[in-house]
Amino acid sequence: KKVGIIGVPFEKGQKKYGVSIAPAAIRSAGLIERLKEIDGIDVKDYGDIDIPSCNEPVNVDNMAHLSLVSACNKNLSNKVSQVLKDERVAVTIGGDHSIGVGTVDGHYRVNEDMILIWVDAHADINTNKTSDSGSVHGMPVALLVKELSDYWPYLPSMDWQIPKFSIKNLGYVGLRSVDEYERLAIEKYDVPAFAMEDIEEHGIQKSINHILHRIDPEGKKPIHVSFDIDSLDALEAPSTGTPVRGGLTLREAIQLMEIIHGTGRLRAIDLVEINPALGNDADRKRTIDAGLCVLRAGLGFSRRGTIPSGILDL
Ligand code: ARG
Ligand code: MN
Ligand code: MN
Ligand code: MN
Repeated sequence: KKVGIIGVPFEKGQKKYGVSIAPAAIRSAGLIERLKEIDGIDVKDYGDIDIPSCNEPVNVDNMAHLSLVSACNKNLSNKVSQVLKDERVAVTIGGDHSIGVGTVDGHYRVNEDMILIWVDAHADINTNKTSDSGSVHGMPVALLVKELSDYWPYLPSMDWQIPKFSIKNLGYVGLRSVDEYERLAIEKYDVPAFAMEDIEEHGIQKSINHILHRIDPEGKKPIHVSFDIDSLDALEAPSTGTPVRGGLTLREAIQLMEIIHGTGRLRAIDLVEINPALGNDADRKRTIDAGLCVLRAGLGFSRRGTIPSGILDL
């Protein structure tokens, strides 16, 4: 099992200070060491990508820092493609969720048949016309999918990114804060979306299996999981910019990632929106640790323990 780690110290997709220090905070909490505890894993750290800082600002209505978001994602897309071409699972540590544009773009360029599981309290499918916040972290899905490209104005600086990914290959888990037009888009395109009430009703196992079966009935396609830490309940992950109560338990998230890992087709994981500057020391520790548990589950860590090699013939 080969894994490549990419850090993205970027926070201009939203307004609060602190998400950009997450890659450093998560590394110093033992990211590499804890991943290396997984049986048979080979971890390579590709370091942090370059975050261009002094771009010509472009002005698009209700879309803050677009040129910075764009420049960061352009580099990130290339890096994700490179890691995948090195035949490693691309694990991207954000950063806010606007970086989903770069990770999915980079993945799509290598695997055009990829499917995307967006694990989030929010749908992140606003355009600049439907967003209340003007923050790009609420817009990455709408930037990525080809079906919504006509709803955008011309976006200067974004020419490198051509939305080719189809919304038919998208599924949601954990939704509980969806804006009006986001709901419209989800219903119009019949996106399999398991909001908290659905997970309550069916359980996490049936929910994810339903999504996987809907978008990939033959079970053959590469999987990308974009995991927003705010999908977890605010009790599990308090240090995040837009917490919403009533979310996934860590147990549900671990099970979700174990099931997806079990397909043998997980190729990319994004872990985003951890903000170590929010909350107290215990909050920050709990949130980072939850993120590490999610990554470990997705990369094959077994809660049953490790199978001893040799000696015991079970
Ligand atoms: N829907 C809200 C917005 O458009 C919140 C988005 C929160 N996104 C996130 N990645 N945490 O701004
Ligand atoms: Mn979110
Ligand atoms: Mn709203
Ligand atoms: Mn998000």
